[in-house]
Amino acid sequence: MRVALLLPLLSLLLLQSSTCEASQVAKAAEPPPFFLQDTSDGLCLSGAVFKRCAVDTLWYVTGSPGEYQIHLRPAEEGGREQCLAKKTCTDSVKPEEVKLSKCAHCGSKKWNILGDAQQGYVLSFDEGKTCLVREPKTNKALTVSCETTEYSYTPLQLNFASKDDIKTMSSPGARLVTAANSGQIKEVKRALKDDVDVNSVDWDQLTPLIAASQGGHIDVVKHLVNNGANVDAVDKDGISSLMEASIAGHLKVVQFLVDKGANVNLKAGSDVNAVWLAAGEGKADVLQYLIKKDADVTAKRMDGIGALASAAVAGHEDVVKVLLKNKDVDVNESDNEGLTPVMNVCEHGSVAVLKMLVKAGGDVNAVSVNGFTALIVASAAGNLDQVKFLLESGAEVDAMHEEGVTALMYAAASGHLEVVELLVSKGAEVDKRHSNGGTALMECAASASEGNVKVVEYLIKKGADHAVVDNDGVTPLMSAASQGQCKVVDLLLEMEKKKSKNVKPHVDLAATSGGTALMFASGAGKDECVKSLLAAGADLNMLVEAQPEYLDKLAKSIEAGDETEAHVDGINSLMIAAAAGHIGVCKLLIDAGADVLAKDEEDKSALAAAVKGNFGEVAALLVDNGADANDAYVDEEGVEHNLLHDSIIVENHDFSKLLIKNGADLSHIDESGVTTLLQASHRGMTEVVALLLEYDKAKTIDVNAANEDGISALIAAASEGHSEIVKSLLGADADVNAKDKDQTNALMAAAVRGHGEICSDLISAGAEINAQNVDGHSAIMFAYNGFAQVQTLWSRYQSYLEESNEQDDEANSKIIKEALANHTAVVTLLTKSGADLTLKDNEGHTAADFDYHPEVDGDALEQAKVEEKRKQRTKKKKKKKGDKDSEL
Ligand SMILES: *[C@@H]1O[C@H](CO)[C@@H](O)[C@H](O)[C@H]1NC(C)=O
Ligand SMILES: *[C@@H]1O[C@H](CO)[C@@H](O)[C@H](O)[C@H]1NC(C)=O
Repeated sequence: MRVALLLPLLSLLLLQSSTCEASQVAKAAEPPPFFLQDTSDGLCLSGAVFKRCAVDTLWYVTGSPGEYQIHLRPAEEGGREQCLAKKTCTDSVKPEEVKLSKCAHCGSKKWNILGDAQQGYVLSFDEGKTCLVREPKTNKALTVSCETTEYSYTPLQLNFASKDDIKTMSSPGARLVTAANSGQIKEVKRALKDDVDVNSVDWDQLTPLIAASQGGHIDVVKHLVNNGANVDAVDKDGISSLMEASIAGHLKVVQFLVDKGANVNLKAGSDVNAVWLAAGEGKADVLQYLIKKDADVTAKRMDGIGALASAAVAGHEDVVKVLLKNKDVDVNESDNEGLTPVMNVCEHGSVAVLKMLVKAGGDVNAVSVNGFTALIVASAAGNLDQVKFLLESGAEVDAMHEEGVTALMYAAASGHLEVVELLVSKGAEVDKRHSNGGTALMECAASASEGNVKVVEYLIKKGADHAVVDNDGVTPLMSAASQGQCKVVDLLLEMEKKKSKNVKPHVDLAATSGGTALMFASGAGKDECVKSLLAAGADLNMLVEAQPEYLDKLAKSIEAGDETEAHVDGINSLMIAAAAGHIGVCKLLIDAGADVLAKDEEDKSALAAAVKGNFGEVAALLVDNGADANDAYVDEEGVEHNLLHDSIIVENHDFSKLLIKNGADLSHIDESGVTTLLQASHRGMTEVVALLLEYDKAKTIDVNAANEDGISALIAAASEGHSEIVKSLLGADADVNAKDKDQTNALMAAAVRGHGEICSDLISAGAEINAQNVDGHSAIMFAYNGFAQVQTLWSRYQSYLEESNEQDDEANSKIIKEALANHTAVVTLLTKSGADLTLKDNEGHTAADFDYHPEVDGDALEQAKVEEKRKQRTKKKKKKKGDKDSEL
């Protein structure tokens, strides 16, 4: 059991409660109630057990993930508050029954709900130590260790109930149905005394009598019938009380209902009757009784399946026995697909039932609409004893499917050796071909089932042709290679060696699709198969070249919507392996001399294929082995990409470096004017920047190139605080006074973010201290402003701590204090370096107006209360200055 991968059901449960309608804002809304439903049979968790979903199986949740309390919604107003609880509160993970208890119980406080609407939800307790499951084949809810392998987890659907749903479920009639279903005779009696209609229906059109019959509560059934319940009422699916009792095998209820005049031949919406349902569920005693009461045994479901077939497919021996005694039952009846009870039981595997059917005259050689025979069904399922019995009873061993597929082929494809041996010993033709030209050996090689090595071995021993070629030009060797069945590949190669000195022609055969065994193995990604084929001399550099008949076939299936991808010629094994990300195979092929630079007819290389599949390791391997680092690739939208640029955008340091070292174009500029250098500088890829500059011997990189907003590599790195990159760029003669479109320079960008070391480097490199941007702001103003921002953050943090009674988080405090210190250092540095404090910006403000008060700063903790006015102004300034933090 694995729940670790499921997502926590964040706050869905709690959030919903806050979205109350406007008119109700004053009234606290009740958290939304929901059902926890087991979709396998639709029953709902009600506490210790699963039962029919009703108003008393609704839950709501309080708390937070990992500490949820799961409350049973009281069915009555003012009802007792109860919570779902783990029975013991020790951390015992032994299976225990779940219970309902007071919400103060220690076992009710640590629930979590994990999952999603698709997979369903799992309730877990105490940090996922135990999980709630339904005991197999019962209605009991248990908590078991989430790690256990003994139980599989029970995914539950979480269905919210609306007010209207609850209103319907709370009606007296619906409550009577619920009471009848759980056999609460007292409640039923009380309700009837209170004049609740004995034939009232709930939301599923269920009447109290149908519900009681389903539950097998004979006392309730009697009381209801004696008080006027309609014995032939049906629910929304047309299911009557008698049918429900028959399904569940409640013989006494069945007898009572029939005595009271229930119609034994009513048919449900799907055309089945009580007999059919009892047969399918294996309720032989009910069936016998109904037959005695003249029930119709010949009813068929809408799909043509009769009672006998329905019992046979489930292997219900005693039911089959009862039915076969009845003269109206036809042992050869077939459903709408021509399947007979004999075929049905061959799917199940019961020999006893098969024998009974055959003894009663069941046809062992009937063929279904799709060409199945009983022998085929039993062989495909590997039911050896049934195969034996069928053959002894005259089944034709080579009877064929309309596509010519025999029992032997099915058994071989499923890897059932014993069945294969039996069929061959009874004369099955080993090399018989189906309509596509394949044989049992081919089918076996083409399937991934275990045990097929032995089957292939056996078939070859019995004379099967290992080198047969089907109508698509496919050989067993290709089939096995495509499935990664390497032992079969070896076996087939061995056979070929025995036959001819030179195995290469066979190994290099191409199917009509143009694929060779090596290509198929490369696509399957099995190193062992590739090794064997290479050792047998497979041609590494063969290229796909499809035959016209293949292209015709493909065109037809694209037209029919079965295929979506058009065919491409010129592909080699390496491209196939690269496209699928099989690094091991790629290595083998490259080591054996594969052409790394080859391109297909669409001009795509193996490298392009690896990049398209996002297989970084494979791409690196290819570049390392001579692939063209400037291999432009074009994506689905037709946009041409530059590998190095893309690699930098995803911050793949290693691959970027590899590309640079292998001759990638260093001066690529994307459509918004961003150079490779600018991209790497912005992202702080220090080594990549250094390498770009180092490998640019031809000086193709413009160090000062800026993007549309005028941001240069230096401004970006300075703003983001990448000090090593700033040093590299300055070393490469970047213009220290370059300005963006607002005339903001690198020093200003570094100053506002408090990057002291960078400011110092820029100043040493000749940055103009008192330059002003379009707003008239200078570096020192930026520095003051940056400080004020941190200060605001600090005061907000302080008041947050006060309001929430949180303990001071040391780590947070430390970072903010450090930032304050960094900003202070920048202000000091700029002042010392000759920043003009009297400069005015366009609004006439000087640096001091940006609210930096060095005298009070000594103890930043004292600064918690900052005047409202200052805050307002800071806000305004902040907005105006904008922020260099934005993406490039
Ligand atoms: C079932 O069909 C077979 C083949 O047609 C026939 O020989 C056999 O008598 C039939 N059985 C019964 C009971 O009708
Ligand atoms: C303060 O500056 C140092 C040195 O540049 C840096 O490592 C640190 O991350 C800065 N701290 C904060 C909170 O910005």
